Amino acid sequence: MFNQLKKWLGNESAQDEKSPHLELDNVPSHIAIIMDGNGRWAKQRGLPRVAGHHSGMKNVKKITIAADSIGVKVLTMYAFSTENWKRPKEEVEFLMKLPQEFFPLEIEELIERNVRIRMTGWKESLPDYTLNAIEDAIERTKNNTGLILNFALNYGGRKELLAGVQDVLKDVQEGKLRPEELTEETFSSYMLTSGLPDPDLLIRTSGELRLSNFLLWQLAYTELWFTEAYWPEFSEEHFYRAVAEYQRRARRYGGL
Ligand code: FPP
Repeated sequence: MFNQLKKWLGNESAQDEKSPHLELDNVPSHIAIIMDGNGRWAKQRGLPRVAGHHSGMKNVKKITIAADSIGVKVLTMYAFSTENWKRPKEEVEFLMKLPQEFFPLEIEELIERNVRIRMTGWKESLPDYTLNAIEDAIERTKNNTGLILNFALNYGGRKELLAGVQDVLKDVQEGKLRPEELTEETFSSYMLTSGLPDPDLLIRTSGELRLSNFLLWQLAYTELWFTEAYWPEFSEEHFYRAVAEYQRRARRYGGL
């Protein structure tokens, strides 16, 4: 894998799909990923949907290491949305149990790589075992200064925006904030991602072309990249291809 990465970094043919050329001085600081297609990946193989989620979980560390290797600072993974509670009870339960399998399995290597775990979402209504697993990982990595691996768990963009507006109104009412002080920057600090840069690149797997209520405020100027690959089969090569394409785009933020 690292030989492959070295090859890509040294590759002169920038447009070559199979060997993307990466420039290490223009790596997106924050990449957000909608890990979609676990269910279809499993169905294609005659497996239960949860087998797809399990395989998807296994892919998280691989892509985290790929991101870390090129200097990405923040990786936000959409692991469970506020809408996902509507899924069958058994599937929700399985998804909720993933953190307690993932962290004991992967935390040592993540710590070695100086990765810091963070969560974006509502802790209320998560089962104790889910919350304990993630809080333990956050605690154990709190002094790490490397890549931030941010799990969007029980997260919904509209709910986040409404909660942010409610907090703003409360602060105005209590005299802590004057309405004219509310700038884009101040408002960002009312979001659950407070302190993180906005994503530069959003990746969604499985061919769906939607945001699905993900980081609605934060994605305003984000470059979007979609692939047909299902999340469990999303490889380092897909990842580097997405970054290479990001590097070929000119970001104008509404200007010329
Ligand atoms: C969407 O695929 C995926 C999810 C709702 C869950 C994603 C979670 C993981 C990959 C694991 C996260 C890991 C940890 C440690 C929390 P889908 O089920 O909607 O797929 P489909 O559209 O093919 O049905």
